[in-house]
Amino acid sequence: MSLLSVRMRASLGGKHVSGAERLTEEEFLPRVLCELLRRPGEHDFLKITIDRVEEVIETEPLKVSSFNFGSVEEARRFAVSKLVEAGVPKEVALKGLRLLAQGANPKGGNMRGAVLMDIRSGERLENDPERGVRTVRMDWKGRDRVRKFLLERGFTERTLDALAVATKNVLCGVLAELCWSDDPDYTTGYVASPKTGYVRIHPLKERGDELGGRIYFIESERLEEVVKCLERRAVLLRGLPSS
Ligand code: COA
Ligand code: AMP
Repeated sequence: MSLLSVRMRASLGGKHVSGAERLTEEEFLPRVLCELLRRPGEHDFLKITIDRVEEVIETEPLKVSSFNFGSVEEARRFAVSKLVEAGVPKEVALKGLRLLAQGANPKGGNMRGAVLMDIRSGERLENDPERGVRTVRMDWKGRDRVRKFLLERGFTERTLDALAVATKNVLCGVLAELCWSDDPDYTTGYVASPKTGYVRIHPLKERGDELGGRIYFIESERLEEVVKCLERRAVLLRGLPSS
């Protein structure tokens, strides 16, 4: 199947403010473009990139579960326990958590992508620790139906996109992921792995906190192939998410 990868990014005053992407058949391109142009909010720069992907892998979404806690402290403790269940040594899980909490960009603030962390030693593996690595070229088959399904069950559009990111990551060899948003108003984060599925955890940060990020725990021997897959391989999620 030949599909188009359509990617939108927008910035304001040089700061990235919005990104979204789709995998689409060519006949639906006008509709997809309209949809992506509706997304960015206030911006002074917008770019859409389109390229053709020849090979697409289909996979099922990770199973979803949700947990609510009375404090960030409890929620973070639970996140560490889920990372340990996924196979991350406790010390490495704590290192990842501390890194996200303090801001993983060595120059301060957020990164432009995810941290790659060796699952055994906790060593950082990204070439550029201000940038990290980004998961791109993924989408849902029948996106509208899945979106409706999730919204009817009290989930958000963010869950739709983040579940696609997390599912592709697992397919590419990420053994566990820890994420919370850099949006100061969005405090739900997640741990994802083949063993635990996609575990939504609330609240992984305090409201008003502008720090966020992602840590991908991987085997350092597989660094090259994992990054290549995250950046290049096209992945379509099929079916509805289940719990
Ligand atoms: N955060 C910050 N800056 C970003 C960015 C992001 N997510 N994505 C792109 N940029 C900026 C960077 O400056 C980047 O330069 P760099 O490679 O040196 O970091 C520049 O834009 C060009 O990036 P590129 O990778 O060429 O963009 P692209 O056209 O392939 O588009 C996006 C990538 C924007 C689609 C992708 O990054 C994205 O955000 N996808 C949406 C993922 C999603 O749904 N996330 C929601 C999870 S809740
Ligand atoms: P978000 O969930 O969009 O708020 O993003 C939270 C953090 O995840 C950002 O600050 C980035 O560090 C990182 N990030 C954003 N997009 C991607 C992506 N496509 N792949 C990997 N990491 C990302």
